[in-house]
Amino acid sequence: MREVAVVGIGCTQFGEHWSASFRDLFVEAGALALNDAGISGEQIDALYVGNMSAGRFIEQEHIGALIADYAGLASNHTPSTRVEAACASGGLAFRQAAIAVASGMEDVVVAAGVEKMTDVGTGASVDTLAGAADREWEGFAGATFPGLYAMIATDYMHRHSLTREQLAQVAVKNHANGARNPIAQFRQEITIDTVLNSSLVADPLRLFDCSPITDGAAAVVVVPLERAREFTDAPVRMLASAQASDTIALHDRRDISTLDATIAAGRRALKLARLEHADIDLVEVHDCFTIAEICAIEDLGFCAKGEAGRLTEEGVTARDGGLPVNVSGGLKACGHPVGATGIKQICEVVQQIRGEAGRRQVDTEIGMTHNVGGTGATVVVHILGAC
Ligand code: COA
Repeated sequence: MREVAVVGIGCTQFGEHWSASFRDLFVEAGALALNDAGISGEQIDALYVGNMSAGRFIEQEHIGALIADYAGLASNHTPSTRVEAACASGGLAFRQAAIAVASGMEDVVVAAGVEKMTDVGTGASVDTLAGAADREWEGFAGATFPGLYAMIATDYMHRHSLTREQLAQVAVKNHANGARNPIAQFRQEITIDTVLNSSLVADPLRLFDCSPITDGAAAVVVVPLERAREFTDAPVRMLASAQASDTIALHDRRDISTLDATIAAGRRALKLARLEHADIDLVEVHDCFTIAEICAIEDLGFCAKGEAGRLTEEGVTARDGGLPVNVSGGLKACGHPVGATGIKQICEVVQQIRGEAGRRQVDTEIGMTHNVGGTGATVVVHILGAC
């Protein structure tokens, strides 16, 4: 297997895009990534595109071919493949690109993610997202994603004495980080009172405990490490890629507030990279709801079960803390265009390692990303490091 490096990144603004279409968003992110790597479209050997549900959000299927066409690659007949694993589609697209390069099958590969969610109303969005859970056992019974994560939060708070204020602090921290990120959907700082006084979505989760509905795209260029310096002076090396699955329905889990797939993927990634938790300088975790960040920190093994609320309250997970979590603003404040999120996480870690993160810069040599599909049925973890 060859070692793999990221040599180009690009991300659109995340938010509501009324004047840019799905294809415009993809082309913008792709062009930024190619420009960053100093290459043209003809040099791309293959594309992997993370997308959860263009069929329902914009009534468009056959996304791989559409993307190749609107990226100007149709006449080159560049292979382009859609990758779908609900909200983990982006992370999985990156993993597929890395596997293609590592295997020696391809040399210059673009991994991208794109979602255009705001062309339908909230009800339709929430119903589409519910397709990432078990439709027969959960969706048809009325369990939406806010509802499912509310069950996780209720169980967790009862068993681990997490306070409502500690949970709110996750959103406060991520909004403080998002305020420093020019691509973030929400760039206003908030207080614990903002969260506690926001409207109830699914008890105990309130509006500010939820990631929003978002349009956006992100892309990265992946090449063999041995060729990386042909493209950039600052390549970022992939140290590990790990993926794990679990039951799709929450009620089939051993423990509904522990994501066993996160435990499995996190352990495997650290083992592959031959690293300890203390070696990780920052982590971008899948905070689709505030409780998800609490579970992720623990299930990735950064602390024992029941401790992440206290660590969050004490500022350990803040930008200037011992373990910065979601310096990009996370899904909560940066936004969550579901197919693009996993690639945006890679872009953030690459920016941090390169020292190009501006006002949210953290001293980083090694960073981890954690991308979740559904309530934890698919988890993808990557570790990236400076060359
Ligand atoms: N956090 C903070 N503010 C938010 C927000 C969020 N998550 N979502 C919307 N808002 C704000 C909007 O900016 C808007 O503010 P304004 O009135 O100042 O313009 C206001 O709240 C109303 O926005 P609207 O789009 O009407 O919200 P909504 O009530 O239709 O939807 C949720 C809110 C929480 C139901 C929706 O964002 C949601 O379903 N989120 C979860 C998405 C999800 O499940 N993703 C997959 C996870 S695995």
